[in-house]
Amino acid sequence: MTGPQGTPLLSIEGLSLWYGAVQALWHIDLRIDEGECVAVIGANGAGKSSLVNAIAGVGRPRSGRIRLAGLDIESLQPSRVSALGIAIVPERRRLFPSLSIEENILVGAQVGRPGPWTLKKIYDLFPELVPIRSLGGHLVSGGQQQMAAIARALMANPRLLLCDEISLGLAPIIVARFYSMFPALRASGISILVVEQETRRALGACDRFYCLLDGKVSLSGRPLEVTEDAVNQSYFGIG
Ligand SMILES: Nc1ncnc2c1ncn2[C@@H]1O[C@H](COP(=O)(O)OP(=O)(O)OP(=O)(O)O)[C@@H](O)[C@H]1O
Ligand SMILES: [Mg+2]
Repeated sequence: MTGPQGTPLLSIEGLSLWYGAVQALWHIDLRIDEGECVAVIGANGAGKSSLVNAIAGVGRPRSGRIRLAGLDIESLQPSRVSALGIAIVPERRRLFPSLSIEENILVGAQVGRPGPWTLKKIYDLFPELVPIRSLGGHLVSGGQQQMAAIARALMANPRLLLCDEISLGLAPIIVARFYSMFPALRASGISILVVEQETRRALGACDRFYCLLDGKVSLSGRPLEVTEDAVNQSYFGIG
């Protein structure tokens, strides 16, 4: 589904990005329609985090267009991007170590949009955060840290939720729980961009996917329309 005039929720055209002299993304085109779950898959160093960080406005030299519902956002600061409705669950969580779990979660409300998410709703979603809410982020388990990072993003009331490897280092049962939340989030009006190295889970959850290889889109489509061989070839750059 697209917006009122057929405008995608997110559209990226010709995005390139550099770290100093090293080019990490090459002319990326990508679209997310309202209500979609889109996956970005790719091996170590393929450019997945560079792409989601660029969408979130995290500063690196870049060229190309990034539009949210038709509005150019590529030159905006992360706080402005967040206020417009894009929230990121960053790779490795990046909780603030000097803040408690609850204070970390509340950061999302400070930078985001007004909307339905409250601390009560967060604790209904993740009841195991209640007894540890006063603890520092570094004192809790990886799964609890990931819950707090997701909670922080939800408290910003995003239109688009960017999830960068939320499964990293976590038990499969916890990962399955995060992915099982997606249908309800989408039903509430949140579109999702999920980044994973683990292809199967991402393809099982998404409507469409993009595979990155060495900073370029090597394959895109709908999971059911591509063969496992085609995915493997575009993921590893073989064949
Ligand atoms: N801060 C940085 N300075 C220099 N080069 C970087 C920096 N961050 C990433 N790179 C390089 O940019 C490329 C893309 O990295 P990126 O982190 O976006 O990949 P990724 O797909 O997220 O990898 P991973 O699966 O390991 O998270 C890699 O070659 C990486 O070495
Ligand atoms: Mg990454």
